[in-house]
Amino acid sequence: MKNKTPYPVNIIGAGLAGLSAAFTLARMGVPCRLVSAMPSERAQSVMAEGGINASLDTMGENDTPAQHFEDTMRGGVYLADPNSVWKLCSKAPETVNMLLSLGAALRTENGRPVLRNFGGQKKKRTAYAKSSTGKILMTAITDAVRRYEAEGLVKRFPHHRLYSFDIKDGKCCGVKVIDLYSRTVIAMPGSVILASGGMNGLFPGMTTGSVLNTGDAAALAFISGAELANPEFIQYHPTTFPITGKRCLVSEAARGEGGRLFTMRSGRPWYFMEEKYPELGNLMPRDVVSREIYLVMNDKDCCGKVFLDMTGLDRTVWEDRLSDLREECIRYLGTDPEDKPVEVSPGIHFYMGGINVDEDHRTNIRGLYAAGECACQYHGANRLGGNSMLGAVYGGQVAARTAAAESDDDNTASEETRTDETTEIMQPPGIPEEAARLMRDSLGIFRSGEKLEEAAGRMQELISAETDAVQKNRMILGRAVLLGALNRRESRGAHTRTDHPERDDKSFRKTTIVVYDGKEIKVSLRDIPEKRGEEQ
Ligand code: FUM
Repeated sequence: MKNKTPYPVNIIGAGLAGLSAAFTLARMGVPCRLVSAMPSERAQSVMAEGGINASLDTMGENDTPAQHFEDTMRGGVYLADPNSVWKLCSKAPETVNMLLSLGAALRTENGRPVLRNFGGQKKKRTAYAKSSTGKILMTAITDAVRRYEAEGLVKRFPHHRLYSFDIKDGKCCGVKVIDLYSRTVIAMPGSVILASGGMNGLFPGMTTGSVLNTGDAAALAFISGAELANPEFIQYHPTTFPITGKRCLVSEAARGEGGRLFTMRSGRPWYFMEEKYPELGNLMPRDVVSREIYLVMNDKDCCGKVFLDMTGLDRTVWEDRLSDLREECIRYLGTDPEDKPVEVSPGIHFYMGGINVDEDHRTNIRGLYAAGECACQYHGANRLGGNSMLGAVYGGQVAARTAAAESDDDNTASEETRTDETTEIMQPPGIPEEAARLMRDSLGIFRSGEKLEEAAGRMQELISAETDAVQKNRMILGRAVLLGALNRRESRGAHTRTDHPERDDKSFRKTTIVVYDGKEIKVSLRDIPEKRGEEQ
């Protein structure tokens, strides 16, 4: 790479995917800017709980990347690109070992990571640090990036938010960002890796994720011409409970370590998952567990509530593996889960869809790449727990390598420049109440064409009447999600249509592609690539 620009790559987002991209670039000697509304210590990734998947096979179960691949594809109901998923799974052991080499304090015995069970997987494959795995990984990688900051290879811009993309002749040549303290606009030339997380601003109060992950960057990319893929696939995590302004996660680790779901039926506990799914029971993939919880909560023979029973877990499990989960239940619910079952219900947790990227994390706009939760890549119709941190770290690496290889010396500006522009900063973390209600009512665990159509129509009216640019963009993104869901006239993974209850591989084992031409949103379906050989 020839390089006149001192910082040829700009990364938007300083969570796991963004840090991984920065670390990878810096290790290659490629300088980058790292822009984020909050410092890394407050990124959503810090909240990630249960673990990170890799077929390290330290538990003597003959686990392999091929088995990890199979579980991931099946869990995602065969909607992900198999070539990308194969790369993710075959590189997973190397990825986790790299994190260990940075000092990530995952639980180990005799120097090797201990693995736990997680949903939708037949082998113990999830490396962890109690239920604070995100915090531990973020600490290690943040520290590693700091070393490169000191060397000048990474230039940080915390408290800065994306303002616009500079797109010329179909190529992304840089971004403008807002300094949130001075409100001035800064122009940053170079290519761009978007690592901005999920779109929680579309579902205020309903998500386990950070309310600061509004989805504004993805919305801006979408209205600037970036394709969205599979936006209709929204993961409801089965075990959450409400707290002020959002939902609190009870990690899948609780079920991985033996926690059991039940409801009361005719005055007796009914362990419905164990009865209905004898093989994986409480550890079926999340889409299945959430649907079942919804159904029993609405079953007139049951009590309308679902509980997670962790009272049977050993003292050592609480001490060594789940002490932080226990503390959260005590702090927020006033319930000690060691003594008493905890009431849970599904809450929005992850967006399988997002900015469409190819195997090398390119978007359809040259010079613009995406990784982590804002991108659609590895998870198909439903993500397996433990694959998100893996996808973020691995995806950040791939995006960084591609961006480094494709950066050129078109950008002759020597530094980022403060423009004369200043701007007001929009504060609300979510879309307006009526828009939020449309999203909430039509994009639940069960959906119907009628409701989706009505919501998409009303959303268009709200968009036309909206004067605030940020809210308008968010609602355009919201409408894209609604139209993607309306177009998918089948049930698959996290998308269940009451009016199309069957899976329809012939017509719909395809990727939903949504584009915006400045006026209209268009939805189409694209074929999923065939799997190549494993030597790739
Ligand atoms: O339940 C959990 O700990 C969540 C993990 C994940 O989403 O990967």
